[in-house]
Amino acid sequence: MSKNILITGASTGIGAETARLLAPENNIIIHYNSSEDAAKTVAKEVKERGGHAHLVQADLSNETGTKGLVQFVTSEFDRLDVLINNAGSLIERREARELEWELMEQIFRLNLFSVMTLSSLCIPLLEKGNGPSIINISSIAMRHGAPTATIYGASKGALDSFTRGLAKELAPDIRVNAVAPGVIETPFHDRVSTKERMETFAESTPLKRNGKPIHIAAAIQFLIENDFMTGETIDVNGGLFMQ
Ligand SMILES: NC(=O)c1ccc[n+]([C@@H]2O[C@H](COP(=O)([O-])OP(=O)(O)OC[C@H]3O[C@@H](n4cnc5c(N)ncnc54)[C@H](OP(=O)(O)O)[C@@H]3O)[C@@H](O)[C@H]2O)c1
Repeated sequence: MSKNILITGASTGIGAETARLLAPENNIIIHYNSSEDAAKTVAKEVKERGGHAHLVQADLSNETGTKGLVQFVTSEFDRLDVLINNAGSLIERREARELEWELMEQIFRLNLFSVMTLSSLCIPLLEKGNGPSIINISSIAMRHGAPTATIYGASKGALDSFTRGLAKELAPDIRVNAVAPGVIETPFHDRVSTKERMETFAESTPLKRNGKPIHIAAAIQFLIENDFMTGETIDVNGGLFMQ
């Protein structure tokens, strides 16, 4: 049976690769914010892989945009099988002695408030889904301490806690898991990491390289398929952080 899958931030990077991987026979709801052309390309690729693509634009850094996305999904679909909360950003690097309220709000609105709101509002649709699950995209930054990304790390740490709380609350009907990527080569780093910083990340990683979006997409696919997993966060980071 084909699945209805909502992927937030599916225009580029991890979300786009996940859309391509999950495309065959499924309805992929490709959410984007500013990258319309890239999202259209992903939609074309989804169709080429035998899936159905549905494009929707929304700014998830505010309540109106987040609720608008849910309204679109509710008007187009009578059930949701998978919600992948992937949209997110570090926004900008900032040293701890220069933290500002506005920046903290901005980062938490996008990486946490929108995910909590979207998850909450999608519960009725997920309850009608087939083996439904939610997958949140966390980050290695919430585990190992990330200098100049402390706000971002804190927002992802809160998201990780939300994942476990929600997993217990929604069990046994809806599974909730997360993936915590290490350093993955996507447009995310074009904005916040220099070439030198990316090389240092790779050098510090036991596998001596940064990851690709497919490494995260494959973990997401695994979590969708393994119906005995809930409340789990899978680390995919080439050994950069080991517990
Ligand atoms: N890359 C890494 O090393 C890494 C590591 C750990 C965790 N992550 C997490 O992985 C997730 C995906 O990131 P990525 O690496 O694939 O980066 P990316 O290529 O920059 O993708 C980010 C996605 O989020 C969307 N987005 C950004 N701001 C938004 C807003 N205000 N409203 C709605 N959507 C918005 C973007 O949409 P538009 O482009 O259409 O605006 C884009 O589709 C994020 O949650 C990120 O925190 C990434």
